[in-house]
Amino acid sequence: MDNPAMPVITRQIGPCFAAEVEGVDMTKPLSPDDVAAIHAGMDMYAVLVFHDQRIDDEQQLAFSRSLGELEHAIGTSLRAPEEYRLPTTFADVSNLDKDHKVFARDDRRRLFAIGNRLWHSDSSFKPIPAKYSLLHARSIPSKGGNTEFADMRAAYDAFDDGTKAEVEDLICEHSQLFSRQQLGFTDFTDEERARFEPVRQRLVRTHPATGRKSLYLSSHAGGILGWPVPEARAFLRDLVEHATQRQFVYTHTWRVGDLVMWDNRRTMHRARPFPAHEPRDMRRTTLAGDQPTVTQVA
Ligand code: OGA
Ligand code: MN
Repeated sequence: MDNPAMPVITRQIGPCFAAEVEGVDMTKPLSPDDVAAIHAGMDMYAVLVFHDQRIDDEQQLAFSRSLGELEHAIGTSLRAPEEYRLPTTFADVSNLDKDHKVFARDDRRRLFAIGNRLWHSDSSFKPIPAKYSLLHARSIPSKGGNTEFADMRAAYDAFDDGTKAEVEDLICEHSQLFSRQQLGFTDFTDEERARFEPVRQRLVRTHPATGRKSLYLSSHAGGILGWPVPEARAFLRDLVEHATQRQFVYTHTWRVGDLVMWDNRRTMHRARPFPAHEPRDMRRTTLAGDQPTVTQVA
């Protein structure tokens, strides 16, 4: 009653990761024990699903902040600051403009956001990439619009020793220019090209809490230091193909009120298509990472 139940992991729902959580009400503050249980659940499962969370922006922010420091979304989309629908403490993953109207099919901001349909890890294009993402469903389309998650630990573990040795010390270049180029979206302004300057990330990361290695891949990866570009891209494509085999993937079918939290350091995810004229209001808060991956020993 006034001593609410601790969060409990009720059920693993993915093939090798991802679980549902019960006993969390995000309209109320978390106790230190709740916070510890959620982090322990993230360390174990990498993706946690919380159902029936009827929360507003302030409550999503409060829940997120109780787990760590927020990453802000400034200049990461093609929305100009005066076109933001949400404060910069949110990544606006919806297909809605400032007036909550669905973007026209050929709207540049919509086409850029279609990049989310490629397998990626959030903010891998930033020098210090994101830790956790927390995505809350406010409204969903009548069909489609699932989100898929891939376990990059299991993908790494499945490599033979030769492949593990080959990828161990590789450094990739990540930029939103590379992910959009794959979709044929190339009409960037000079200002956007400068803003989306590539950053470096290790290809193999070691998780600080579990010590497990994982692949750090993303659609934003467009080169490997010291490699010719076509060879690097073909190799990265093979790695993504390996890492996203069905036995490594959990598919989330959304209900309004779901909040899904994932660890970007050892998962990838992608959005699936849905009818273009229907609203899909998804709001993401993001927890900041604490160091660049290139100075981290794999
Ligand atoms: C995200 C994202 C996928 C989706 O929020 O970072 O990629 O299905 N979302 O909206
Ligand atoms: Mn994403």
